[in-house]
Amino acid sequence: MRVIRAAAAGACFGVQRALDLANQAAKDYPKVKSFGPLIHNPQVVAELAAAGVAPVDSVDDGYDGAIVIRSHGLGPAARATLDRPGIEVVDATCPHVLRAQQAAVKLAQTHGAVVVVGDPQHPEVNAILEYAEQAGGRVWAVDSPAHIPSDLPERVGVVVQTTQNREVFDSIVVALHDAAVETDIKDTICSATAQRQTAARELAGEVDAMVVIGGHNSSNTTRLYEICKAICTKTYHVETVSELNSVDFSSCETVGVTAGASTPESQIVPVEEYLERL
Ligand code: F3S
Repeated sequence: MRVIRAAAAGACFGVQRALDLANQAAKDYPKVKSFGPLIHNPQVVAELAAAGVAPVDSVDDGYDGAIVIRSHGLGPAARATLDRPGIEVVDATCPHVLRAQQAAVKLAQTHGAVVVVGDPQHPEVNAILEYAEQAGGRVWAVDSPAHIPSDLPERVGVVVQTTQNREVFDSIVVALHDAAVETDIKDTICSATAQRQTAARELAGEVDAMVVIGGHNSSNTTRLYEICKAICTKTYHVETVSELNSVDFSSCETVGVTAGASTPESQIVPVEEYLERL
C-alpha cells in the first residue's frame, strides 16, 4: 500500500513554538506548570506532565515557579493573576492569536462593539472576548449564520478565531450584511489551518483511504476529518497508531495521511510506518 502524506500536515509554527518553549522551560526552571493544557493533544499533554510541566486551571497564591501560557492565549483576568513576584511567565501565545487579541481591542476602542466569529466554548475565543470587553466593547461570539444575535448595533468590528473555517466565516459576514449590520473586518484566520485543509481536500480525492491524526478534542483536526470524510468515505480520525488495529485496509492501494496543527511529528511517523508495513 502506498502511503502519501498531505503537502501540509502536522504541527504548525505556533504549536511547535509552544512545545519548544515548554520543553526549554522544563530545563530552565525547577518548577513549571502550564496554564491549561498546552495544546489540544492528550498524548503531548501527558508527555509534558511526565516531564514536570503539568497543566493547572489557576495558580495558587503560594506558587512560585514558571507558568507557560498556551498557544491559544489567556484572557486578561487570568493573565493578571500571574503578575506577582515569584512567578516567571513563559508566554507561548501564538503570535497569530496575539494579533487577533490586539485587533479585538482596537475594534472595541473604535466601534464599542465586537463580534468574534468562532466557537464560544473555545479558550482562544474566550480570551479574545475578554480583551475586547476590557477595552470597553460589547461582545458577541458567533459560530454560525443562524446564531447572529438580534441586538447588534448598526456597526460592529469583526475578528475571527484563528482556526475558523473560511466558508463559515464568509457565510457569517454575508448574514451580518443581510441583517443590515455594517462591519469593520479584521481577518485573523491563520493560513496554517487553510493550508492543511486545502492539502487534505486534494489528497482525499486521490486515495482509497485517509487517516487523520490528532486529538479528538482538537477542533482543527476534527475539521480536517470532516473535510476528508466528505470526499473519501474510508476516513479515520485517530490519536495513536493503536486505534488503526481494527481497520481493514485490504482493499486499499493508496492511503493518505494528514494531521492537525496540534499534532507533532512524533505522532505522525508511527502511523505512517504502520501503514507502510501493511
Ligand atoms: Fe498559531 Fe495558526 Fe498554529 S494561529 S497555533 S500558527 S494554527
